[in-house]
Amino acid sequence: RGDVVIATKFLPRTEEERQNKVSARDHIEGSLNASLNNLGMDYVDLYIYHMWDYHTPMEDIMEALDSLVKAGKTRYIGISNAYAYQIATANAYARAHNLTEFVSIQGYYNLIFREEEREMNRFANENNIALTPYSALASGRLSRLPGDNSSQRMNLDNFAKSKYQDTADQDQEIIQRVHEIAEKYQVTMTGVSLAWLLTKATAPVVGATKVHHIDGAVAAVNLKLTSEDVHYLEELYSPHPLVGVMADNN
Ligand SMILES: NC(=O)c1ccc[n+]([C@@H]2O[C@H](COP(=O)([O-])OP(=O)(O)OC[C@H]3O[C@@H](n4cnc5c(N)ncnc54)[C@H](OP(=O)(O)O)[C@@H]3O)[C@@H](O)[C@H]2O)c1
Repeated sequence: RGDVVIATKFLPRTEEERQNKVSARDHIEGSLNASLNNLGMDYVDLYIYHMWDYHTPMEDIMEALDSLVKAGKTRYIGISNAYAYQIATANAYARAHNLTEFVSIQGYYNLIFREEEREMNRFANENNIALTPYSALASGRLSRLPGDNSSQRMNLDNFAKSKYQDTADQDQEIIQRVHEIAEKYQVTMTGVSLAWLLTKATAPVVGATKVHHIDGAVAAVNLKLTSEDVHYLEELYSPHPLVGVMADNN
């Protein structure tokens, strides 16, 4: 158990739980107990708050999370889908009250969605917070050329589709460049996309659906891109409106 790092997430309270006055502490502890039961473990390494909860005081959440760390059920806490200012506020509260601070941010970040670069990357780097981005491969778009129809998921995953449809033209030019760099080094597009993200982030979350996908992700660790490659991959990006959880959660 000590050789692997296990992370899992919890959702904010449901509307029904709020109406039934389930406290933040009971909700969060209940969620973690259910995860530990499912995993057959007595602790996880990182417990991640899935998205900012606008209906629960931040203080209640930080106190509940701290009690789980003190109880030994999780070693660290992280957060996902949050703005830099929210993490700064929560961690400042924790520091002032001798509570546990967030050590990681799981943001939505990849070569064709780089809005984390506005504030989060710099905030995280300056405050020793690990960037552990999700959708590192844009749900597969950064692993294959546009028009490659070999993925059932690309056709069926409507939520992912909705996130990329408005910027598809610009995205395709960037994806084409990923392909060019992959040809140059005789590696996969997955390797290039993840190697680029590893120049910014600590540990991307990679959605593997097949065993060989793990090998593809691991190979990226040894691929070192030059600063010219990085510039070439980044050059065509222009800011995108927020989409997905960050746009929907308010
Ligand atoms: N915090 C959040 O709000 C949030 C939101 C979304 C996701 N996530 C997390 O992030 C994980 C991944 O999300 P995602 O699916 O959007 O991520 P992703 O890593 O961007 O995309 C995964 C897709 O990329 C393709 N792929 C992966 N490895 C590959 C390889 N080595 N070679 C070729 N293709 C490869 C697969 O496509 P095919 O299946 O088509 O082959 C796979 O479905 C989820 O499981 C979840 O834990 C978190």
